[in-house]
Amino acid sequence: MQVTISSGNNINGTLVLPLFEGEEALPESVEGIPSSLKSQINVVLGDGDFKAKANATMTLMGTDGGKAILIGLGKQAKADAHAYREAGATVVASLKKVHGNELTVVFHDAGVENMAAFGEGMMLRNYSYDDYKQVDEDDEKPALAARINCSEANATALSEAVERAAAIASGVHLSRDLGNCPPNDMYPMAFALKAEEWAKAYENVKVEIIDYESAKRQGMGGLVAVGMGSARKPCMVIFTLNGDQKGRHPVLVGKGITFDTGGISLKPGANMDEMKYDMGGSATVFGTMEALAASGYGGKVVGITCMAENMPSSNAQRPGDVITTLSGKTIEVLNTDAEGRLVLSDGLWKAGTDFDPEYIIDFATLTGACVVALGHEATGLWSNDDDFRTRIHEAGNDVGELAWPMPLLPAFEKEMTNSKIADTRNLGAGRWGGANTAAAFLKQFVPDRGEGDDAEQITWAHMDIAGTYWGAKTNKMVGYGATGVHVRTMVRLITGE
Ligand code: BES
Ligand code: ZN
Ligand code: ZN
Repeated sequence: MQVTISSGNNINGTLVLPLFEGEEALPESVEGIPSSLKSQINVVLGDGDFKAKANATMTLMGTDGGKAILIGLGKQAKADAHAYREAGATVVASLKKVHGNELTVVFHDAGVENMAAFGEGMMLRNYSYDDYKQVDEDDEKPALAARINCSEANATALSEAVERAAAIASGVHLSRDLGNCPPNDMYPMAFALKAEEWAKAYENVKVEIIDYESAKRQGMGGLVAVGMGSARKPCMVIFTLNGDQKGRHPVLVGKGITFDTGGISLKPGANMDEMKYDMGGSATVFGTMEALAASGYGGKVVGITCMAENMPSSNAQRPGDVITTLSGKTIEVLNTDAEGRLVLSDGLWKAGTDFDPEYIIDFATLTGACVVALGHEATGLWSNDDDFRTRIHEAGNDVGELAWPMPLLPAFEKEMTNSKIADTRNLGAGRWGGANTAAAFLKQFVPDRGEGDDAEQITWAHMDIAGTYWGAKTNKMVGYGATGVHVRTMVRLITGE
């Protein structure tokens, strides 16, 4: 979807008119509206038929051909960028054939930040996944085009803000595309090849694929154990943005289980199709790299995705197996369905030992327990550094993607090291606190920086997106399926903008 800026008054296609609650007539400052539409708007506002409550919409058709969508922003005093972003998304969600594919948005009393947020909301919501639907050429819809009319004084700043939002939205949509792709076509090497193809579009990105043979040679016992039961072998993909920049940099790690059957600890059949989203963490990493690259970020960032398909087969790992991970630590595998933590153990170790991270953040659709705790409303957020956890929480709040602080307690870690025959185990003692025990398990694979008395664990955060990567029905930025959550949180955290 193209969003352009104009400092004129022309209205092309359908007028989109954001209004505040309590406005009883069209404000004087709004110009260029055809007269029959104008009087209709004044009637519905005057009679109180349209109250402009947040995200309320009404379509009006003028007798002289003009069309309008009124969109409520709620009370003006509360109408912040979040309200504008949601309103923009709501407009796109309510579009019908009658509105056509051209929109002109006319604001009154809105600053650049809020206007840009509205445009961002429109772009984020303008997404559907129809790669697998046959389309009749006659039915092919032309792309949606929206124009925002604004004052000449604001035009340049608004254009820049909207252009940046478009670049970031391309990362969110890429994450959704990857997540929505059916698992027969989205398997570890397919993801890796998509990454390699993507890298060709940018001079400042590099993609390295560590294939199955090489993962075995390097000793990635976690990744190998999870993926070996599938005919589609596991791999690790390493993304580097601006690799020539010196100094410490963020490293993002993603769980990329392209399908999670549970393995020999097979999952029940109901809704198992949803386990195609179990690569949501890797999609978050890939989408963030795209958002950063497309918006021209100049700093160095590394992404590591741990790709595997968790299948039951004669080559699959068994409950009871003991595996040796890249860190050298051994894990007693008590449940093959707790596989995300196994692949991440290698990803986290690689992140901290092959690179010099300012911090490491992992993204994973890790536990059903996290969905029990937080529903689809918030991501679970753990960190070994309270200030860092707060920074991520705030970056999420800034962009409207909630990440909720969760406890990283020594007792949980202890529970996960209680194996009779190995250093650690992949299953807690019972089902209580399952999201916390999973986080505590991961912490064991975050390397220290420095040695001896100076050793200090690298700053790390874990984000469990099991509930927020899909099924988030109250998320106005998305209609269905993969949400692409936290690409925008990461851009905010990393760039500070
Ligand atoms: N991919 C699942 C977690 C999941 C469940 C994500 C539901 C989204 C929705 C993960 O690999 C898993 O199966 N975890 C187990 C862990 C358990 C065996 C300790 C779980 O949550 O039940
Ligand atoms: Zn699983
Ligand atoms: Zn899983």
